[in-house]
Amino acid sequence: MTRSVLLLPGDGIGPEIVSEAEKVLHRVNELFNLGLVFDTALVGGAAIDATGEPLPAITLDKARKADAILLGAVGGPKWDALEMARRPEKGLLGLRSNLELFANLRPAILYPQLASASSLKPEVVSGLDILIVRELTGGIYFGQPRGVRTLENGERQGYNTYVYSESEIRRIGRVAFEAAQARNGKLCSVDKANVLEVTVLWREIMEELAKDYPDVELSHMYVDNAAMQLVRAPKQFDVIVTGNMFGDILSDEAAMLTGSIGMLPSASLNAQKLGMYEPCHGSAPDIAGQGIANPLATILSAAMMLRYSLAEEAAAQAIEQAVSKVLDQGLRTADIMSEGAERVNTRDMGEAVVAALQA
Ligand code: IPM
Ligand code: MG
Repeated sequence: MTRSVLLLPGDGIGPEIVSEAEKVLHRVNELFNLGLVFDTALVGGAAIDATGEPLPAITLDKARKADAILLGAVGGPKWDALEMARRPEKGLLGLRSNLELFANLRPAILYPQLASASSLKPEVVSGLDILIVRELTGGIYFGQPRGVRTLENGERQGYNTYVYSESEIRRIGRVAFEAAQARNGKLCSVDKANVLEVTVLWREIMEELAKDYPDVELSHMYVDNAAMQLVRAPKQFDVIVTGNMFGDILSDEAAMLTGSIGMLPSASLNAQKLGMYEPCHGSAPDIAGQGIANPLATILSAAMMLRYSLAEEAAAQAIEQAVSKVLDQGLRTADIMSEGAERVNTRDMGEAVVAALQA
């Protein structure tokens, strides 16, 4: 049996980090006899340059047919002046919405080797292991109407719409409750129910769902407080469930708890468990082309892909153990560098992970 993996390197550091993850995948493919076959397609700015579209039809078609997708990053200053509908980000958002990848899992785990790379005190973050479940195809990111209009007085006004329907809340809620069940049974739903009606409904549905999961302890927190609690005492959290925009913001914050956003993988799943896997970080145009980006978030995303979409748990663990091993060896890219460690570039890091892989 062969399974197809679609690689979407994208822009900025995307091609550099995806190429390291690709080497890792090729190696586990041999070691574990996975039968993976690989294809590549254009998305984001790279696709705009080649075809004029951030999400060409052929890319979407390949994505629909693939068993799993690994994406690098999209966007960069070169395309910033384009109108919203033609920007590189639309390629990513278009993949998410067309494939209905509504469930975004963003684990923030602190590798003990990196405790000193966090800007927080080691005792605040040591042992940190939280999972952010972010709704990914709804909320203010996709709500209609949206745009910039001119008022009668001639002034322009920008507007977006924050909407969630019950079914959208319920399906992401179920993913989060199930994730909490498989972990420590604690779920915190983050909203702004003191101000926004849409999140009053969000809270109501979460309460309703809680009845189906008596073994999960559900709590609620306003997003401003959650942002504070994440840096004050992050270990109080196990699973966090929240909407698209709050999840975008809180997951960057959670990433920094772990030392570097260069370490954080993510999975975006639909109801059939087709998944797109990507690092939580962006295309980092400031360091693109220099070969110094940290490929570990992408490599760890490949591990999540093996776990969730390809049901290859042993291979997933092998990658995670190899990453831990290279950190034990003291290898560090610039973003996680600390005194006494050995600074390496993107390719060295990828190749060290390949060398550390064991069946
Ligand atoms: C992320 C990114 C994207 C988002 C951007 C690139 C559109 O920040 O995956 O978190 O806002 O979702
Ligand atoms: Mg983000």
